[in-house]
Amino acid sequence: MHIAVLAGDGIGQEIMVEAVRVLEALDLPGLRLDHADVGGVAYRKHGHPLPPETLDLAKTADAVLFGAVGDPELDGLRRELRVESAILGLRKELQLFANLRPANAFAGLENLSGLKPEIASAIDLLIVRELTGDVYFGEKGQRQTEDGLRQGYDVMAYDESEIARIAHVAFKAAQGRKGKLCSVDKANVLQTSVLWRAVVEEVAAEYPDVELSHMYVDNAAMQLVRNPGQFDVIVTGNLFGDILSDQASMCVGSIGLLASASLGEGTKGQYEPIHGSAPDIAGQGIANPMAMILSAAMMLRHSFADETNAQRIEKAVSTVLADGVLGHDLGGSASTSAIGDAVVAAVQK
Ligand code: NAI
Ligand code: MG
Repeated sequence: MHIAVLAGDGIGQEIMVEAVRVLEALDLPGLRLDHADVGGVAYRKHGHPLPPETLDLAKTADAVLFGAVGDPELDGLRRELRVESAILGLRKELQLFANLRPANAFAGLENLSGLKPEIASAIDLLIVRELTGDVYFGEKGQRQTEDGLRQGYDVMAYDESEIARIAHVAFKAAQGRKGKLCSVDKANVLQTSVLWRAVVEEVAAEYPDVELSHMYVDNAAMQLVRNPGQFDVIVTGNLFGDILSDQASMCVGSIGLLASASLGEGTKGQYEPIHGSAPDIAGQGIANPMAMILSAAMMLRHSFADETNAQRIEKAVSTVLADGVLGHDLGGSASTSAIGDAVVAAVQK
């Protein structure tokens, strides 16, 4: 069980400590954790946000546990050296194209979500976000228009193979859940989405047991707040998935609670919270480590087929929340390490 531990920047460092403590508390046979630098930390030490040693470790390990990257002091770097490019580089090099972002209600948080309690408590959904295409990877740049105005552009593009492979992941995920898949696009305006919808329909023929629906992304954003309980699995492109999952996190209660798995064809994966390095609270010891800890649970499930220990972690987090150990993001006062202590104690029970 060889794990590359890439804590990264800001609160990434703080929350990773707690996730590692939880993993160590499980007494996993053959657990080997190797740490490496990524993001701003790596740029400062090695001159690159994704140094070759880090990439090598990520490639040879069975799984990557990733904190967050992002350093406001380094925002001016040119595109290839921007610290966020480390995540895109890892995803690309490890061929991770499917990002699974589960969002489910936790007992005890119903009144914190901003939604009515009976609406919030029905949340049990999975966002399947495509990870290697869309405006993030299309041709991009800045230029001058004929009128001499500055113009920025990012091309949105998906080819049919990219759409089909993420659709297969989503249909299979729906088969293992409640059998409902909602594909989110903007097919009334975007040609990318017209093709997306057509290909998802074609793939659907192989999954007659899954009930497929389509929704425009603006409506989906509204429905996530109006009635999130209607969703089982949502499949969508890179940009829409990024935005909708941040939104879903707030329906649950906080962005500090949502984990994610980035997967490819094999068992290798990269596991990370959906949030970033949170420079506004970094260094204060108040970040919620639960999203990071739950990412470790997803890692045990997907890369090591260890459902038992994945559930041990997930149940521990639920118990700690139900017991009212709440971080600052949830209106409580528990520190990062106090939350880590509580989860470690709960997994050992
Ligand atoms: P962010 O997700 O880091 O923070 C958004 C807000 O949520 C902040 O107010 C922050 O304090 C709060 N927050 C986030 N995680 C929290 C946690 N665990 N506990 C308590 N509060 C938490 O997004 P932001 O501020 O837009 O970006 C900050 C930096 O992170 C930027 O450099 C950005 O590029 C980078 N980023 C990196 C990501 C990654 O590494 N996967 C993803 C998103 C952003
Ligand atoms: Mg995001």
